[in-house]
Amino acid sequence: MPNSRFPEFAQTMPSEDLIRALVHGFYAKVRADDALGPIFNRVISDWGPHLEKMCAFWSSVMRMSGRYHGNPMAAHLRLKTVKPEDFERWLSLFSETARELCPEDIADAFVDRAHNIAHSLQLGMFYRPQPRGSATRIGANAANDGTGSLSDEIGAK
Ligand code: HEM
Repeated sequence: MPNSRFPEFAQTMPSEDLIRALVHGFYAKVRADDALGPIFNRVISDWGPHLEKMCAFWSSVMRMSGRYHGNPMAAHLRLKTVKPEDFERWLSLFSETARELCPEDIADAFVDRAHNIAHSLQLGMFYRPQPRGSATRIGANAANDGTGSLSDEIGAK
């Protein structure tokens, strides 16, 4: 739905075809990656539905199409072996693929959204609030499980 009222937004709105190319290109690298491949291959036996779901997800994020209906936080909380450094690798492969396949502005927009969502997921997966009064308490978001900002990112209510 490119929109003449919001030209800046339209410029960084990828087509569904470009989203498909990025999703397929990215997960081809993920599956071949020494660190990430085994994590995905343990959980996903049929890649067709997962790739379709990820196209719908990125369509919702980048085109506000509302095509994705799911709960990424719950899906990632089930993955017990994922470590923070796996997110660095994920983001590095995602950024590499986006820059290979997309015009610069669109690649920047994809990478920006991926970083924000990865941050929210990591808050939910790895951040454990300390008891009240502890010196390691982080700002006002100590009880944040990441779900609030994640819902905002993917346009979910
Ligand atoms: C270390 C990084 C990551 C790992 C290892 C990982 C792994 C996985 C795995 C194994 C699944 C399938 C879960 C299942 O079917 O039960 C999944 C689903 C998903 N992932 Fe990730 N992921 C990572 C980062 C991300 C990031 C940064 C995003 C978004 C930018 C993302 C978005 C999603 C979405 C939308 C789903 C589908 C959830 C659903 O079932 O609705 N993931 N991920």
